[in-house]
Amino acid sequence: MPLHVVSHPLIAHKMTILRDKSTSMKKFRELVDEITLLLAYEATRELPTTEVPVETPLVQTVGRSLVHTDVILTPILRAGLGMLHGMMQIIPNARVAYIGMQRNEKTKLPETYYFNVQDHLEHSHIIVVDPMLATAGSMSGAVTLVKQKKPGSIRAICLIACPEGEARMDRDHPDVPVYVAARDERLNENAYIMPGLGDAGDRMFGTP
Ligand code: PRP
Ligand code: URA
Repeated sequence: MPLHVVSHPLIAHKMTILRDKSTSMKKFRELVDEITLLLAYEATRELPTTEVPVETPLVQTVGRSLVHTDVILTPILRAGLGMLHGMMQIIPNARVAYIGMQRNEKTKLPETYYFNVQDHLEHSHIIVVDPMLATAGSMSGAVTLVKQKKPGSIRAICLIACPEGEARMDRDHPDVPVYVAARDERLNENAYIMPGLGDAGDRMFGTP
């Protein structure tokens, strides 16, 4: 699985504030938004473009455009929702397909409760977003669901990955590139990423 750690001073700075336990919910949301936007810039580098004519005030010329490039943003509920606005700022015409998935706190396994998107996505580019790649049970399950729709391409964007999650994605979906802002040390006994940022959904929404 190609893992792209997007190394940039702005991302590193914002991630440090995001991790800080004293960062407010409002600030946390703003930072997730900003970091996602920066990751999206890198993750969309390979999207196809076509030549289009454009008339400047001076001359007729040819530019490149994403015209007819169907991008479907796929946030994993809940915490992935917090990344949606940042993605849409950079790809405003993207469609959205939600995946409802919750990690069972006892088993640590994800349980799917919602996924609704049409079949035959051969011409679509899917970007799955979820802040935490912990065991990667959620991301791997989400990608498996998406693959059933046969999309043109799939990529994933997370804020933090860890070796356990990377190994799982490598095993299950070696063909799916994953873009992350940071690569942490390990999982703890509760399958939380260390040092991590805690529970992304709780910090983003203020509810357990
Ligand atoms: C968190 C996070 C990921 C998942 C990561 O969601 O947002 O979806 O855990 O863990 P994994 O890699 O071990 O599967 P959670 O299930 O806690 O739900 P939430 O987004 O509603 O808080
Ligand atoms: N889910 C989170 O929100 N944080 C973690 O560290 C692991 C799973």
